[in-house]
Amino acid sequence: MDLINGFTTTAIAKAVSILKAGGLVAFPTETVYGLGADALNPYAVAKIFEIKKRPRFDPLIVHVGEKEWVNSYAEHIPRVAKNLIDRYWPGPLTIILQKKKTILDIVTAGLPTVGLRMPSHPVALNLIRSFQRPIAAPSANPFGYVSPTRALHVARMFKNREITVLDGGDSPLGIESTIVSFQDSTICVHRYGALCVEELASMGEVIEAKKKDTLCNAPGELPYHYAPHKPVNIIEGAHEITTVNSSFLAFTKPQDSVKAKYILWLSDTGDMKEAAAHFFSYLIELDKEDIDVIYVQRIPEEGLGRAMMERLKKASKKFKTLRH
Ligand code: TXA
Ligand code: MG
Repeated sequence: MDLINGFTTTAIAKAVSILKAGGLVAFPTETVYGLGADALNPYAVAKIFEIKKRPRFDPLIVHVGEKEWVNSYAEHIPRVAKNLIDRYWPGPLTIILQKKKTILDIVTAGLPTVGLRMPSHPVALNLIRSFQRPIAAPSANPFGYVSPTRALHVARMFKNREITVLDGGDSPLGIESTIVSFQDSTICVHRYGALCVEELASMGEVIEAKKKDTLCNAPGELPYHYAPHKPVNIIEGAHEITTVNSSFLAFTKPQDSVKAKYILWLSDTGDMKEAAAHFFSYLIELDKEDIDVIYVQRIPEEGLGRAMMERLKKASKKFKTLRH
């Protein structure tokens, strides 16, 4: 593991040469850190699955450096997709389209579709454009664990592995991209993320892809993503905390005394953007060795709150499954 400042030209040059040689580079995006490989090199992409211990049936997002690159990797691009690209790229939106043959089966886990995203983080863009090829990258965490929003978290998670980490500071949005596919002019949401569905609704009809009987199917979404090592318990407030051997992630600053050993809150004022920016890094920080449970205060399910609650529910589901 090698951690270097991603804002220097030497760092980018080094990262590009590693990617060209089929190696792995972790890089910052505005959402979370990604663990990248040359999307057109199957051996390099295979390393991502191996190092993350990610099941081969879970497809990767392909990151592009210009909007126009989409035409090289996808076909039958509906009007609404073009509108979304024009409006929200570069940014926290992944769009699922019919793939061209240029995209390898290992990247899409055999699916006929590919998830494409153009990130806005300057280090990410600089890296992809300097490499002049698309970069396949999942979030830079071991499979199932919380996504990292800091270079140091990535470095810790993969400390004995052969990867180079570009440090680009804290990911400003702090939560993964919103993922959508299309059915004619309808936008199907596969994952709630940093771009609110309320925003998307201004671009067309929006439906959830989750339900099996809808027009879109949602492969690759697994029930236990995003979980810390310690069990997560969603509560309404600090009064529900029964054990001192615990961490508490509050939404806003707790007013009363709190029984937990470690306490953090997502935002002083209940600001959703600020809360999302802290969300994963605080969860990682509170995932301590010497506690039994992480209590998390319920977050209002609107805007980014919906994206955070979706991840918390998955994390707490793992807890319930393990208990029973
Ligand atoms: O913000 C993000 O999206 C970050 C940064 C690094 O770009 N990436 C990220 O990747 O969160 P990952 O692999 O952790 O999550 C991507 C999700 C997976 O759940 C995968 O199943 C889904 O996207 N996905 C990718 N391609 C897909 C496809 N063709 N059809 C359906 N789901 C797809
Ligand atoms: Mg992930």
